Amino acid sequence: MAETWVRMVTAQTPTNIAVIKYWGKRDETLILPVNDSLSVTLDPAHLCTTTTVAVSPSFGQDRMWLNGKEISLSGGRYQNCLREIRARACDVEDKERGIKIAKKDWEKLHVHIASYNNFPTAAGLASSAAGFACLVFALAKLMNAKEDNSELSAIARQGSGSACRSLFGGFVKWNMGKVKDGSDSLAVQVVDEKHWDDLVIIIAVVSSRQKETSSTTGMRDTVETSLLLQHRAKEIVPKRIIQMEEAIKNRDFASFAHLTCADSNQFHAVCLDTCPPIFYMNDTSHRIISCVEKWNRSEGTPQVAYTFDAGPNAVLIAHNRQAAAQLLQKLLFYFPPNSDTDLNSYVLGDNSILKDAG
Ligand code: DP6
Repeated sequence: MAETWVRMVTAQTPTNIAVIKYWGKRDETLILPVNDSLSVTLDPAHLCTTTTVAVSPSFGQDRMWLNGKEISLSGGRYQNCLREIRARACDVEDKERGIKIAKKDWEKLHVHIASYNNFPTAAGLASSAAGFACLVFALAKLMNAKEDNSELSAIARQGSGSACRSLFGGFVKWNMGKVKDGSDSLAVQVVDEKHWDDLVIIIAVVSSRQKETSSTTGMRDTVETSLLLQHRAKEIVPKRIIQMEEAIKNRDFASFAHLTCADSNQFHAVCLDTCPPIFYMNDTSHRIISCVEKWNRSEGTPQVAYTFDAGPNAVLIAHNRQAAAQLLQKLLFYFPPNSDTDLNSYVLGDNSILKDAG
């Protein structure tokens, strides 16, 4: 093996937004959830991570840079992903560049990883989902791992739970799985990005501050203290997942919006039921909910669904471009930029689903 070569692979992965939320782990190390979840993957043009992975015999250790700044790879989550992909590495033969790497060489070779988000990391928008999905996908290509995207999702899951759903476009379900080793806790595509391509996703950035309670810590506290979570995981979510899949397959926006809003509200109720209580939404988030609810009621049939993750930013899913335009008008009217509310920017996102929006 020549000592000078470098082999590189670049991948791009969008983030995803859950419409039926994952909240709570039954196994913290393997990242196994207490319920199934379901999400929509955004278009890669918005909120995505680009990751380049490189391998060379001249690299002395594994290293990673995030948005140009070196970060430590010592955390268990990175190590788990690297270990799992290395274990699946295969022979590589790059004839064009005269590089040959035997399966057994991967154990001693080190990688360098450079990852960029195309949105401000400080914007308070989830980045770990896109980040770990992209890392695992790029490493798998670099090391010629033969696993399909579902199998890779079970590895990305060990970086960050929600990351497993970013291996596919369209609507994606994360099956919680049953077995102890987590091998059946993986993502499957429900429908692809073309199935429901008139939906429009708008993200209203309510606050760009880092959240006070990370998802990981919040979930741990909820699992330890909330009785409502047990009810949600056992009784509510299993039925909701079936109804949501049905709504998506039939492009039934009224049911979709009802389930999405209800699930977001229940997730935040579970946070409030945690000891000490967790408040992710703020007054502006609550005002957005009221505004959407009022509008939907006045129209007789829902025009927009809202959902909030572990922070105050609103993810608004409009039925079509017309509803999205009306929504933007309302947002600008009720929350004018630079007013006393701190709702100061809107990210107009196509979902994978919407190539032609915005
Ligand atoms: C509220 O996937 O960030 O966005 O598995 O601990 O890394 P870890 O948590 P993470 O949690 C996401 C929580 C959520 C809901 C969801 O995306 O389903």
